[in-house]
Amino acid sequence: MIENDLSDLTNRRFSVTNEPSSIRFFGPTGRAQMGQRAASGSADHYRALPTVTLHMATVDQSREDLPHTGVPCPRIFKRAWLDRAVSLPSERATHRTLLLDEAADRLQWAAGNRALLHQTLDEMIVALRDVRRLATADEWADWKAVCRSHPVTSLVHEDPFTRRAFEKPRGHAGDAELLDYIYGREEVWPAPPASPLGLQIFDYTTRSPAPEGVRARRAFVARMIDDVADERRFPDVLSIAAGHLREVLLSAAVKRRRVGRLVAMDADPLSMELVAREYGRFGVETEVASIRKLLTNQLDLGSFDLVYSTGLFDYLSMASSRRLVTIMFGMLKPSGCLVVANFLPGVRDVGYMEIFMDWNLIFRTRYEMVEMTMEIPQEAIRGIRLFAEENQNIIFLEVVKK
Ligand SMILES: C[S@@+](CC[C@H](N)C(=O)[O-])C[C@H]1O[C@@H](n2cnc3c(N)ncnc32)[C@H](O)[C@@H]1O
Repeated sequence: MIENDLSDLTNRRFSVTNEPSSIRFFGPTGRAQMGQRAASGSADHYRALPTVTLHMATVDQSREDLPHTGVPCPRIFKRAWLDRAVSLPSERATHRTLLLDEAADRLQWAAGNRALLHQTLDEMIVALRDVRRLATADEWADWKAVCRSHPVTSLVHEDPFTRRAFEKPRGHAGDAELLDYIYGREEVWPAPPASPLGLQIFDYTTRSPAPEGVRARRAFVARMIDDVADERRFPDVLSIAAGHLREVLLSAAVKRRRVGRLVAMDADPLSMELVAREYGRFGVETEVASIRKLLTNQLDLGSFDLVYSTGLFDYLSMASSRRLVTIMFGMLKPSGCLVVANFLPGVRDVGYMEIFMDWNLIFRTRYEMVEMTMEIPQEAIRGIRLFAEENQNIIFLEVVKK
């Protein structure tokens, strides 16, 4: 079986492009060289497609139509390889290297062809998610180390989104600038400078399920602010770990000054400067402070009709989450409401995020969201609700005070 797989691979290091007789060869590091080769009579099996660059390796004979294009493509990651790459120690290194070489080659071949590039990333992301699912913690740590020293990493790091998360210029992966790459898609902000390949990968990664969830989360929060402003006159609102508070761009209530106090709190002074500069005109107040101050009762911001936090609990331990939820509850006025968001387990990008972005979220189940409320006295609670955003990647916990 293994020999069969390996013999498949002997044919895999060239591809045929739509340019007649133009063939790209790939070295062991996945670096492409252009070459001329007779289009017929070769011992290698290939056939040209009229409109797309086709990888002719017989890596996996199964084909799937690309969802958006109907273009038939060979699949790069064989299920059996994945299983072996994870579960058979004697074969693990070989199969993992084959997978990574294949991904690096495909990324370069696909540059310029959006459909193929997206398919390559799709397959790689799903494969890494599956590996993560199958692997023990030690095996996954080993995968991370090996992937990061493989040339595929420098290719995906041409994407500014992947690279910024990995490099963490503000000390953690999900800083507010990074989230602006995600929100920028809806706001039609220009993409950050990058190579042509980097821009294509950026186009893919900022559309993937986790960023889709983050955009849906922002829309949800904006609607929530509008709703509370419909129900009460000039409600006071607090956002904890507010980042750039981009939800205000979607909130009619904020723009029309139908909110009372709107306080944005974040540990990052640069983010708070931006919020003051851009949204001070809507009456937004800023507070540079770490949640540590809240957790140790060293910060009194007042009382609020709505207190919410998005993009923070995914990094907090359960003990800190419980404590912070209890403190947020204590900041509510009567009938006030707190909302916290967290990623649900199972997001498709998880393996890619952990390996190439070094972005490690704590995923939480419905049960764990409710567990966060367990230090709030039961008699003070009017109701608890849980709901997920439209993509089912992010869950919201809402607790209403009596
Ligand atoms: C993923 S961003 C979310 C920003 C915003 N809430 C959103 O959803 O777009 C996480 C934010 O948490 C802030 N943050 C991280 N650790 C913090 C802490 N200990 N105290 C306060 N803010 C913190 C970061 O500065 C960053 O702006």
